[in-house]
Amino acid sequence: MANGNPFKPSFGASPPVLAGRSEILDALEEALDSGTGHPDFTSLLIGVRGSGKTATLNAVQEHAQNKGWLVIAETAHGNLCDRLIAGTMELSGDAHASSGRPRLTGVSALGVGVEFERASSAVATAGEIRLRPVLTTLGSRLASERRGLLITIDELQGGEPPQLREFATTLQHVTRREELPIAFVGAGLPSIEDTMLQDSAITFLQRCSHHEITDLSNAATVTAFAEPIAANGGHINEDALQRVVKASNGYPFMVQLIGFHSWRATASDPPHLQIEEVSSGIAEAERRLQQLVLAPMWRAMSEMDRQFALAMAIDEGETLTADLSKRLGRSSSYVSIYRSRLMRSGFIHSTGHGRVDFAHQTTRSWLRSPNRTP
Ligand SMILES: Nc1ncnc2c1ncn2[C@@H]1O[C@H](COP(=O)(O)OP(=O)(O)OP(=O)(O)O)[C@@H](O)[C@H]1O
Ligand SMILES: [Mg+2]
Repeated sequence: MANGNPFKPSFGASPPVLAGRSEILDALEEALDSGTGHPDFTSLLIGVRGSGKTATLNAVQEHAQNKGWLVIAETAHGNLCDRLIAGTMELSGDAHASSGRPRLTGVSALGVGVEFERASSAVATAGEIRLRPVLTTLGSRLASERRGLLITIDELQGGEPPQLREFATTLQHVTRREELPIAFVGAGLPSIEDTMLQDSAITFLQRCSHHEITDLSNAATVTAFAEPIAANGGHINEDALQRVVKASNGYPFMVQLIGFHSWRATASDPPHLQIEEVSSGIAEAERRLQQLVLAPMWRAMSEMDRQFALAMAIDEGETLTADLSKRLGRSSSYVSIYRSRLMRSGFIHSTGHGRVDFAHQTTRSWLRSPNRTP
């Protein structure tokens, strides 16, 4: 096995090369550099599971930190506003926060899941401190120092509506009315378009710039494989490279899975990835994709979603939606509702007008397999 595997097949882990996102990163970085009037100063990243939202957020945070900005990186779940208050106070270094040393709030028996909570958040929980004034204080100070605060909130789909409403109202006030240098980048699954972004009390988040985190182009996928291999002293044959690019179908998580398991299958030093190694890497990556992505999606699908998917698996390649209407005995408008649902979850994608295919190449054989679990 070759050492120094550069690939990172874990959700939330930044890849060795964040390929194909320079346009979005340039826009977000330009927004931080130019200030509150820039349309991307408050932005949302929207993409399916494993498309690279968290990795992109990480890159924006790094840019902000490098330019001397302060950063609060949160996920949306639970008492978001309390955590934002605690984070802001900690960064402000004000009297409340500085007296609050980190304290341990919970250690599981195995020593994992250690959580720290600032004593100051207890004050916030008591409702004595609101988010708006603490942000205004910190934002005003940062404005006078000609820098700013970046707030990122990941996994917006898991947020509590009242918390998101309070956050959105506060953000609107501090960025639009007070014009303070407090930038925001949120990230969530496409389902937020049907939930959070339909909530009339969260209109401010609807008005943020929307950036779609899409599949990688072929050129970006080549970069995502070839650059880390070369940077770590390895080499990949042209035919092997073509093979991995095709097998990953532009899905960032699959790029990392294939890269990781192909590198792992390579015995030569320096590592030389050829067809044999990448074939074994692709096979292992497909097994993992089935367990980690397809099976959880399948469990979350309704009976009709599943019938739709099974009706597609009859074809060897793309499926005409007109054929799905016939196979399922349903109207074209009924079929189009399920088509959109499955596209939003990242299970299928459109391949042209009236045509769909599975987003992952291994889906068809997985659906057909008699020992598929679940
Ligand atoms: N642009 C990219 N190029 C190459 N690999 C990437 C890219 N973006 C993300 N990845 C890799 O893809 C995997 C998924 O990325 P990430 O966790 O950021 O996705 P996500 O959209 O946040 O997923 P989720 O919806 O589950 O939170 C990780 O292994 C990451 O390293
Ligand atoms: Mg994520």
